[in-house]
Amino acid sequence: MPARLVVLVSGTGSTLQALLDAAADPSYGAIVAAVGADREGIDGLPRAERAGVPTFVCRLGDHVDRAAWDLALAAECARFRPDLVVSAGFMKLAGPAFLHRFGGRFVNSHPALLPSFPGVHGPRDALAHGAKVSGCTLFLVDDGVDTGPIVAQRAVDVLDDDDERSLHDRIKVAERSMLVDVVGRMMREGYRVNGRRVTIP
Ligand code: GRF
Repeated sequence: MPARLVVLVSGTGSTLQALLDAAADPSYGAIVAAVGADREGIDGLPRAERAGVPTFVCRLGDHVDRAAWDLALAAECARFRPDLVVSAGFMKLAGPAFLHRFGGRFVNSHPALLPSFPGVHGPRDALAHGAKVSGCTLFLVDDGVDTGPIVAQRAVDVLDDDDERSLHDRIKVAERSMLVDVVGRMMREGYRVNGRRVTIP
């Protein structure tokens, strides 16, 4: 039986699309069991619908507080029995209830080489700092902001004429390739976490 992924999105969903495309091949060893979002009206949701993948939307504003939203998000994800939850441009921080349920099998992809440039403006911050190399990081989500154990990274050159958009678009090419490759290996071969060190046999 293929491993089950639940992918969380908040926007365009090009990273999600790469996983949907990879999962269409049975040899990939994983399927996208569901796509969850924190908002309506984003391109990520129709991408899932076109692939015949169930979707759910869990909006913060629909809940009395963040703790209730966190519980609801965890419950929605659990309905699809994920082996791994993948944040692919999901712009909310999961809370304690979510991490209690999925910690250790919840990865996030970030468009910078952590621990450099965490937060929502990784490419912009790398440019502002004058970095010559940036890239992307796949990590296991913990209770910090982009601080969890690193699973994989890819380096991307920063070009002299880059702006935030051109750099982020180039990073996303590497990010999509990294996510498809590494998530697939994690699901087919397993992975081990020892403190901050994550290894895939
Ligand atoms: C990705 O670069 C992700 O790392 C960042 O937002 C971007 C999402 O892009 N958090 P998309 O929505 O998958 O196209």
